[in-house]
Amino acid sequence: NKGLQAMSDLTTAEVQELLNEAQAFADGKTWSPDKPMFAANLFFEPSTRTRFSFEVAEKKLGLELLQFDGETSSVKKGESLYDTIKTLESIGADVAVIRHPEDQYYVDLLPKINIPIINAGDGCGQHPTQSLLDLLTIQQEFGDFEQLQVVICGDLRHSRVARSNAEILTKLGAHVSISGPRSWMNGFDHEYTYVTMDEAVKKADVMMLLRIQHERHDGEATFSKEDYHEQFGLTINREQRMRKHSIILHPAPVNRGVEIADELVECERSRIFKQMKNGVFIRMAVLKRALAHI
Ligand code: CP
Repeated sequence: NKGLQAMSDLTTAEVQELLNEAQAFADGKTWSPDKPMFAANLFFEPSTRTRFSFEVAEKKLGLELLQFDGETSSVKKGESLYDTIKTLESIGADVAVIRHPEDQYYVDLLPKINIPIINAGDGCGQHPTQSLLDLLTIQQEFGDFEQLQVVICGDLRHSRVARSNAEILTKLGAHVSISGPRSWMNGFDHEYTYVTMDEAVKKADVMMLLRIQHERHDGEATFSKEDYHEQFGLTINREQRMRKHSIILHPAPVNRGVEIADELVECERSRIFKQMKNGVFIRMAVLKRALAHI
């Protein structure tokens, strides 16, 4: 069963195989399963990019889509996630793509669900397909990851993207540093070097910005937008001090004018919309890996 829950499920060789496959799809490769197959997409948290790029990927692979709506499903009557997935498996789903607010929601599913489960984001846990599309975008730019300086900036504590990326980039030979409010570095500050944003822009080949996840801050005191932007954001002034070849990534959605100046979202160094485009090819590769041997 070749589902994907966390980047740690993959060896570096498997990561490279997925990147190569995604690049082949980007270059025009096509693939479809040799029998009709159904993909069930279950999003229990809001999503635009992940949800629709999975949908486009599934359609490009010729899969039939089972669109799940939490509001009109029997989840509303109290049906558990396990019973929901078991039901979809029983009626013919071949793969389940799931986003859920609970960290590691998949742990209870894996022993008894036989179809591949692809994690489209679990709480503050992991977001492996985002991580893979970030890697593809970096690889397209720099060729490989050895010795690259990557600075992950912002709300790391709540970020499933940061966790997935810091681990895999280190394994692939990149140097990962962190930046942002000190109290938002929990879980990262023992392993990764802290730099200020002014140090980050001078050092980074890749500035990986993160969204402030207000919905996970539980009303705790935070910064005004202006203060945050000035202290921890990629301002126009800081962008001018970045290295000539360096690029800007952000998983989006973007708080324009907060973690990044509005004008920089689509600037020459920004690869933010390229990341979204690559998301389709990565998800095609992950779905193919899950379905090719069924
Ligand atoms: N980057 C990302 O996961 O975006 P969505 O929440 O819109 O899917």
